[in-house]
Amino acid sequence: MKNIVILISGGGSNMAAIVRQARDARWHARYGAQVVAVISNRAQAAGLLLARQQGLTTAVVDHRGFDTREDFDAALAQAIDRHDAPGQPALVVLAGFMRILTPAFVARYAGRLLNIHPSLLPAFPGLHTHQRALDAGCRFAGATVHQVTGELDHGPILAQAVVPVIPGDTADTLAQRVLTQEHRIYPAAIAAWLAQQPG
Ligand code: GAR
Repeated sequence: MKNIVILISGGGSNMAAIVRQARDARWHARYGAQVVAVISNRAQAAGLLLARQQGLTTAVVDHRGFDTREDFDAALAQAIDRHDAPGQPALVVLAGFMRILTPAFVARYAGRLLNIHPSLLPAFPGLHTHQRALDAGCRFAGATVHQVTGELDHGPILAQAVVPVIPGDTADTLAQRVLTQEHRIYPAAIAAWLAQQPG
């Protein structure tokens, strides 16, 4: 059984989409994986409530309680690693997790750390992606699922969704249209990743 730990900071709609898929009996039988925990750096993250309503184990590692990024990441790693299955390190899924991770953290989870970013990478890494796409006059926007590497919002691309920019779009309307597609591609990309794992 492969365990999946999801990290969130906010609403948790991607997390909910992944949990929904992972609980489908056919998906479960096919990929032998389950979401075992949801961890947030913010106690107020609405996604935590959603996760608890789903009966999932949740934890909070509040970044404000640590002096350095290194200390926070070490505590986060401890919270994650207690969900490893015997002999099977967990897949770590960043789903709206709004923290920059240290190189040591990224190295520890190399090859089993996935992220979703609300732009068509390599365009618009970082924040405010939808406003920046509108300001640049883009006709299309979208989202990218990728493996996390040492460079922020880079790393091998696993899936992308493209959505049209519609006249009159605001950052909010565009974000909503992109988010709907995120809910489709993230579970699918995780399934594809799991299918490639040995054993
Ligand atoms: C999503 O749009 C996700 O792509 C984005 O935050 C939102 C989280 O929504 N992630 C980032 O910006 C990471 N750099 P959710 O909490 O409802 O899944």
